[in-house]
Amino acid sequence: MTEIKQITVVGSGVMGSQIAMVSALAGFDVYLQDINEESLKVAEDSLHGHINKRISKGKISLLEAEKAFARLKFVTSLEKAVAETDFVIEAIVEKLDVKRQLFAEIDRLAPSHAIIATNSSTIVSSKLADATNRPEKICNLHFFNPVLVMELVEVVKGPQTSDETADTAVELVKQINKTPILLKKEISGFVANRILGALIDEAIYLLENDIATVEEIDLACTKALNHPIGPFALLDLTGIDVNYYIRQVLYEETGDENQKPQKVITEKYLNGEYGRKTGKGFYSYNS
Ligand code: 3HC
Repeated sequence: MTEIKQITVVGSGVMGSQIAMVSALAGFDVYLQDINEESLKVAEDSLHGHINKRISKGKISLLEAEKAFARLKFVTSLEKAVAETDFVIEAIVEKLDVKRQLFAEIDRLAPSHAIIATNSSTIVSSKLADATNRPEKICNLHFFNPVLVMELVEVVKGPQTSDETADTAVELVKQINKTPILLKKEISGFVANRILGALIDEAIYLLENDIATVEEIDLACTKALNHPIGPFALLDLTGIDVNYYIRQVLYEETGDENQKPQKVITEKYLNGEYGRKTGKGFYSYNS
């Protein structure tokens, strides 16, 4: 199995930044790369905010936090970020053509032993593998939002992924103190999001048919089913834009009209109401 010392996370959004942080907290040398300097700055500030809370709650020492931040480098240069990497985790926008271009570029720049994983739950790794010359080293490694809190990570083998790559990815998930499950075959959405998707679809159906309000549907899930938050609060957390892109990809893949982003999702997406990250989604948030 490949020994992992250095991890590169590409894309410094909510997912990428926290994936980088959990990796640094677990003792790995980490590069967090983004082409957008402003996004890196936002990521750095947000991570300091989350870690400061953990320090003040006594969950982590100041020294541990300082050591983790010392191991975490924020860079715009992809070349620098992957030059000596052992494992790359891509967490950029859910667009196939953009991801394929990135995978080809990483393949060109990264050492030949490096594994390249995508955090995508809709774009399976076989759609990216042939953009590289190392298809056996490509897989999905799917984290959940908020990554600092959620324990599960799905490792997904594509038809081209070698056993060694899958084993290394499973081992890495354990080393960053998360719980892996290994999916032996690709299926878009994987396990958790397929189940969650069914829940969200039903919630939107009930809303669009005027059966109940956003708040009431969320209350049914929190107070009747004991979910930590309702489906609309969760859409705000994970990003209505992400949901829109995911459904768009599913629609393009299947041609099934039922997979298209629903009316309410499209409206919010077009209004720039993405949820917590824009201050407004199904609910409003103070910045
Ligand atoms: N980032 C990092 N940490 C966060 C956070 C965030 N955005 N929001 C909350 N936390 C931390 C808090 O600091 C707190 O930490 P502590 O235990 O060390 O004190 C802990 O989470 C609990 O937070 P709160 O007490 O403020 O609030 P809640 O009890 O409501 O928990 C929650 C917040 C953890 C987000 C909880 O509501 C939850 O588990 N919700 C469900 C999340 C979920 O279903 N995620 C999966 C989404 S699907 C997905 O990610 C797939 C992808 O493909 C899009």
